[in-house]
Amino acid sequence: MATVLVTGGLGYIGSHTVVSLLEAGHKVIVVDNLVNTNAAVLDGITAITGKKPQFYPLDLRQPETASMLFSKHPDIHAVIHFAAFKAVGESVEKPLDYYQNNLNTLVYLLQEVVKKPIAFIFSSSCTVYGQALELPILETAPVLKAMSPYGNTKQIGEEILQDCCLAYPHLKVTALRYFNPIGAHESALIGELPIGVPQNLVPFITQTGVGKRAQLSVFGNDYPTPDGTCIRDYIHVVDLAEAHMAAMNRLLNLTSKASFEVFNVGTGKGSSVLEVIKAYEKVSGRSLPFVFAPPRQGDVTAAYANTHKASTVLGWQARFSLEEAMASAWAWENKLLS
Ligand code: NAD
Ligand code: WQD
Repeated sequence: MATVLVTGGLGYIGSHTVVSLLEAGHKVIVVDNLVNTNAAVLDGITAITGKKPQFYPLDLRQPETASMLFSKHPDIHAVIHFAAFKAVGESVEKPLDYYQNNLNTLVYLLQEVVKKPIAFIFSSSCTVYGQALELPILETAPVLKAMSPYGNTKQIGEEILQDCCLAYPHLKVTALRYFNPIGAHESALIGELPIGVPQNLVPFITQTGVGKRAQLSVFGNDYPTPDGTCIRDYIHVVDLAEAHMAAMNRLLNLTSKASFEVFNVGTGKGSSVLEVIKAYEKVSGRSLPFVFAPPRQGDVTAAYANTHKASTVLGWQARFSLEEAMASAWAWENKLLS
């Protein structure tokens, strides 16, 4: 069993991954400055697993945070680095905050990680592909100029990691390029906690479903897709958590010859906005009020993963359907009401 440092471990994807790690018997240390979550998530994790990870409410923008964690825990085998800001629109308004948080935290962690053979997993994003020319998207697709400072932090993050793998031959890194994570743990004890008006489709739908929002605006209905709305690859967050376990096991078992590897983490299936609405209507038994609105600036027409590499190399593939993921998102939204 491994000792795993999870940064941003009380966030949306981090908390689900912490649950998977604890359930698999690993020792978990969480660091999270609570900038985009709250400490009650720790109670949810404990209620699900019966175990409480060691928690540090600290900011990784302070360089001493990483050095303190590694000196207190010399037995760390793996780091899963989720901590970052993630709002695409906000990153355009406040690029320096995004470069500072998403890149400095990475550099400070790496300054400690490179001292020892520690496995490192980085949260990257399908956003690095922009509008790929070929679908489904392979990991070998070119990384296009980022459409936002947020996207750029993921591209630069991957480059920093590749440079470090060249400079420190014992360093082993996996970058997971997530597609569109949705849903919540089946217990509805942890899930996504969007602050303010959700920018992402599924939380906007479920908040509309419970009456917190009047109606959904569907951004664009004239895209060159079968129903005119954009296509994405929506992956259940619990599947995504499991992908981290598979990636970590590969790194710890030293199965990979390459020191830096990249994997798409998606279902391989594209769904349009109208199909997502239908899935919501089916699992909730309610109809969703929506209107068509102009396209949102920066949106790509279609993005879904080629998952061959993850399934053959990591032995991981998504288990949950869009409807199952949507049902869990709906249960979580209703739980938030209580
Ligand atoms: P999230 O905001 O829910 O989780 C990030 C966590 O990191 C939060 O709990 C936040 O409080 C913490 N954090 C941020 N800055 C910190 C700092 N300086 N020090 C300590 N803690 C800090 O986001 P998420 O959806 O769970 O995303 C996790 C990672 O996955 C991020 O790197 C994000 O960019 C990436 N990602 C997310 C998506 C998505 O759609 N959710 C898609 C692709 C990639
Ligand atoms: C999905 C679809 C919208 C809201 C974002 C980030 C990306 C990655 C994942 C982190 C699109 C449409 C949405 C609404 C709508 N995150 N939509 N009405 O844009 O694919 O990706 O999250 O790395 O970087 O950009 O996800 O959920 O915002 O949108 O019609 O109110 O839903 O146009 O087609 P997106 P999303």
